[in-house]
Amino acid sequence: MDLLIDPAADSLWESVGTEETAHGTREKQPRTAAEWQKVAQHAQALVLGAKRLQTPGFPVGANAHSKLADADTPGTRTAAQIRVDIDADPARFRAAAIRLEEAANHALTASRTHNAAGVLTAGAELDAACEACHAAYWYPRTPPQHLPSPAEFAAQSTRH
Ligand code: HEC
Repeated sequence: MDLLIDPAADSLWESVGTEETAHGTREKQPRTAAEWQKVAQHAQALVLGAKRLQTPGFPVGANAHSKLADADTPGTRTAAQIRVDIDADPARFRAAAIRLEEAANHALTASRTHNAAGVLTAGAELDAACEACHAAYWYPRTPPQHLPSPAEFAAQSTRH
Protein backbone atom coordinates (compact mmCIF):
# COMPACT_ATOMS: atom_id res chain seq x y z
CA MET A 1 0.00 0.00 0.00
CA ASP A 2 2.47 2.62 1.07
CA LEU A 3 5.13 1.67 -1.48
CA LEU A 4 3.27 3.03 -4.51
CA ILE A 5 -0.01 4.66 -3.53
CA ASP A 6 1.08 6.71 -0.55
CA PRO A 7 4.11 8.54 -2.08
CA ALA A 8 2.24 9.19 -5.35
CA ALA A 9 -0.75 10.62 -3.46
CA ASP A 10 1.48 12.82 -1.31
CA SER A 11 3.27 14.24 -4.37
CA LEU A 12 -0.02 14.90 -6.08
CA TRP A 13 -1.50 16.67 -3.05
CA GLU A 14 1.63 18.79 -2.75
CA SER A 15 1.60 19.85 -6.40
CA VAL A 16 -1.32 22.27 -6.18
CA GLY A 17 -2.58 24.53 -3.41
CA THR A 18 -1.74 27.61 -1.44
CA GLU A 19 1.61 28.01 0.22
CA GLU A 20 2.60 30.36 3.04
CA THR A 21 5.87 32.15 2.29
CA ALA A 22 7.71 35.02 3.99
CA HIS A 23 6.03 37.29 1.42
CA GLY A 24 2.50 36.05 2.06
CA THR A 25 0.31 33.43 0.44
CA ARG A 26 1.34 32.08 -2.91
CA GLU A 27 -0.65 29.91 -5.30
CA LYS A 28 1.29 26.76 -5.85
CA GLN A 29 0.80 24.91 -9.12
CA PRO A 30 2.85 23.31 -11.89
CA ARG A 31 3.95 25.94 -14.43
CA THR A 32 6.11 24.21 -17.02
CA ALA A 33 5.23 21.27 -19.26
CA ALA A 34 7.81 19.20 -17.38
CA GLU A 35 6.18 20.03 -14.03
CA TRP A 36 2.76 19.06 -15.35
CA GLN A 37 4.25 15.85 -16.71
CA LYS A 38 5.44 14.95 -13.21
CA VAL A 39 1.96 15.45 -11.77
CA ALA A 40 0.51 13.27 -14.54
CA GLN A 41 3.04 10.56 -13.65
CA HIS A 42 1.93 10.59 -10.01
CA ALA A 43 -1.70 10.34 -11.13
CA GLN A 44 -0.76 7.47 -13.43
CA ALA A 45 0.97 5.69 -10.54
CA LEU A 46 -2.22 6.07 -8.49
CA VAL A 47 -4.33 4.58 -11.28
CA LEU A 48 -1.92 1.64 -11.34
CA GLY A 49 -1.97 1.29 -7.55
CA ALA A 50 -5.77 1.38 -7.54
CA LYS A 51 -5.87 -1.33 -10.22
CA ARG A 52 -3.49 -3.46 -8.16
CA LEU A 53 -5.81 -3.19 -5.17
CA GLN A 54 -8.50 -4.71 -7.41
CA THR A 55 -6.43 -7.85 -8.05
CA PRO A 56 -8.25 -10.76 -6.39
CA GLY A 57 -6.41 -11.77 -3.22
CA PHE A 58 -4.27 -8.62 -3.20
CA PRO A 59 -2.10 -9.02 -0.08
CA VAL A 60 -2.90 -6.56 2.68
CA GLY A 61 -0.30 -5.71 5.27
CA ALA A 62 2.28 -7.28 2.95
CA ASN A 63 4.73 -4.43 2.69
CA ALA A 64 8.16 -3.61 4.01
CA HIS A 65 6.86 -3.16 7.55
CA SER A 66 6.69 -6.04 9.96
CA LYS A 67 3.76 -4.31 11.59
CA LEU A 68 1.10 -2.03 10.14
CA ALA A 69 1.37 1.67 10.91
CA ASP A 70 -0.93 2.51 13.82
CA ALA A 71 -0.91 -1.12 14.95
CA ASP A 72 -0.42 0.14 18.50
CA THR A 73 -3.62 2.20 18.46
CA PRO A 74 -6.13 0.10 20.40
CA GLY A 75 -8.75 -1.43 18.13
CA THR A 76 -6.80 -0.95 14.89
CA ARG A 77 -7.64 -3.96 12.76
CA THR A 78 -4.86 -6.42 12.15
CA ALA A 79 -3.79 -7.62 8.70
CA ALA A 80 -5.49 -10.97 9.47
CA GLN A 81 -8.79 -9.31 10.42
CA ILE A 82 -8.64 -7.12 7.31
CA ARG A 83 -8.06 -10.20 5.18
CA VAL A 84 -11.15 -11.91 6.62
CA ASP A 85 -13.26 -8.82 5.95
CA ILE A 86 -12.05 -8.53 2.35
CA ASP A 87 -12.59 -12.22 1.62
CA ALA A 88 -16.09 -12.10 3.11
CA ASP A 89 -17.14 -9.76 0.29
CA PRO A 90 -14.40 -9.17 -2.31
CA ALA A 91 -16.74 -7.10 -4.49
CA ARG A 92 -17.08 -4.53 -1.73
CA PHE A 93 -13.32 -4.04 -1.39
CA ARG A 94 -13.04 -3.90 -5.18
CA ALA A 95 -15.68 -1.14 -5.27
CA ALA A 96 -13.60 0.89 -2.80
CA ALA A 97 -10.54 0.42 -5.03
CA ILE A 98 -12.53 1.39 -8.15
CA ARG A 99 -13.54 4.60 -6.41
CA LEU A 100 -9.84 5.35 -5.95
CA GLU A 101 -9.15 4.55 -9.59
CA GLU A 102 -11.87 6.97 -10.72
CA ALA A 103 -10.48 9.78 -8.58
CA ALA A 104 -6.96 9.05 -9.90
CA ASN A 105 -8.28 9.18 -13.46
CA HIS A 106 -9.81 12.59 -12.77
CA ALA A 107 -6.40 13.76 -11.51
CA LEU A 108 -4.78 12.32 -14.63
CA THR A 109 -7.17 14.13 -16.98
CA ALA A 110 -6.76 17.37 -15.06
CA SER A 111 -2.97 17.17 -15.15
CA ARG A 112 -2.90 16.33 -18.85
CA THR A 113 -5.05 19.39 -19.58
CA HIS A 114 -2.97 21.58 -17.21
CA ASN A 115 -6.03 22.24 -15.08
CA ALA A 116 -4.85 23.20 -11.57
CA ALA A 117 -8.36 23.61 -10.16
CA GLY A 118 -9.20 20.16 -11.53
CA VAL A 119 -6.16 18.64 -9.80
CA LEU A 120 -7.26 20.26 -6.55
CA THR A 121 -10.79 18.84 -6.86
CA ALA A 122 -9.46 15.41 -7.81
CA GLY A 123 -7.13 15.62 -4.80
CA ALA A 124 -10.13 16.01 -2.50
CA GLU A 125 -11.83 13.08 -4.25
CA LEU A 126 -8.72 10.99 -3.73
CA ASP A 127 -8.57 11.86 -0.06
CA ALA A 128 -12.21 10.81 0.36
CA ALA A 129 -11.54 7.53 -1.48
CA CYS A 130 -8.54 6.69 0.76
CA GLU A 131 -10.51 7.53 3.88
CA ALA A 132 -13.61 5.56 2.89
CA CYS A 133 -11.64 2.35 2.45
CA HIS A 134 -9.45 2.87 5.53
CA ALA A 135 -12.48 3.63 7.70
CA ALA A 136 -14.19 0.45 6.54
CA TYR A 137 -11.25 -1.96 6.75
CA TRP A 138 -8.39 -0.57 8.77
CA TYR A 139 -9.38 1.91 11.47
CA PRO A 140 -10.75 0.86 14.84
CA ARG A 141 -14.50 0.34 14.90
CA THR A 142 -15.56 2.56 17.75
CA PRO A 143 -19.15 2.70 18.94
CA PRO A 144 -20.88 6.06 18.36
CA GLN A 145 -19.97 8.57 21.03
CA HIS A 146 -22.62 9.65 23.50
CA LEU A 147 -23.63 13.25 22.74
CA PRO A 148 -23.71 15.19 26.03
CA SER A 149 -26.90 17.03 26.98
CA PRO A 150 -26.81 20.80 27.67
CA ALA A 151 -26.96 20.01 31.40
CA GLU A 152 -23.92 17.75 31.10
CA PHE A 153 -21.97 20.46 29.26
CA ALA A 154 -22.94 22.96 31.96
CA ALA A 155 -21.85 20.57 34.71
CA GLN A 156 -18.48 20.05 32.98
CA SER A 157 -17.78 23.76 32.70
CA THR A 158 -18.26 24.39 36.44
CA ARG A 159 -16.26 21.34 37.57
CA HIS A 160 -12.74 22.10 38.79
C1 HEC B 1 -9.59 -0.28 -1.42
C2 HEC B 1 -9.10 0.06 -0.12
C3 HEC B 1 -8.05 1.11 0.09
C4 HEC B 1 -7.89 2.32 -0.55
C5 HEC B 1 -8.77 2.92 -1.64
C6 HEC B 1 -6.73 2.95 0.03
N1 HEC B 1 -6.20 2.15 1.01
FE1 HEC B 1 -4.55 2.58 2.15
N2 HEC B 1 -4.83 0.85 3.18
C7 HEC B 1 -5.83 -0.07 2.94
C8 HEC B 1 -5.72 -1.16 3.91
C9 HEC B 1 -6.65 -2.37 3.96
C10 HEC B 1 -4.64 -0.84 4.74
C11 HEC B 1 -4.09 -1.62 5.94
C12 HEC B 1 -3.40 -2.87 5.50
C13 HEC B 1 -2.19 -2.62 4.63
O1 HEC B 1 -1.34 -1.76 4.94
O2 HEC B 1 -2.06 -3.31 3.61
C14 HEC B 1 -4.08 0.42 4.25
C15 HEC B 1 -2.96 1.06 4.76
C16 HEC B 1 -2.43 2.24 4.33
C17 HEC B 1 -1.21 2.85 4.86
C18 HEC B 1 -0.35 2.27 5.96
C19 HEC B 1 0.61 1.27 5.41
C20 HEC B 1 1.45 0.61 6.49
O3 HEC B 1 2.49 0.07 6.17
O4 HEC B 1 1.07 0.61 7.64
C21 HEC B 1 -1.03 4.02 4.17
C22 HEC B 1 0.10 5.01 4.38
C23 HEC B 1 -2.11 4.14 3.21
N3 HEC B 1 -2.95 3.03 3.33
C24 HEC B 1 -2.28 5.19 2.33
C25 HEC B 1 -3.33 5.30 1.42
C26 HEC B 1 -3.59 6.46 0.60
C27 HEC B 1 -2.77 7.74 0.61
C28 HEC B 1 -4.69 6.16 -0.16
C29 HEC B 1 -5.38 7.02 -1.19
C30 HEC B 1 -4.61 7.74 -2.14
C31 HEC B 1 -5.13 4.82 0.21
N4 HEC B 1 -4.29 4.34 1.16
C32 HEC B 1 -6.23 4.19 -0.35
C33 HEC B 1 -6.79 -0.02 1.96
C34 HEC B 1 -6.98 1.03 1.09
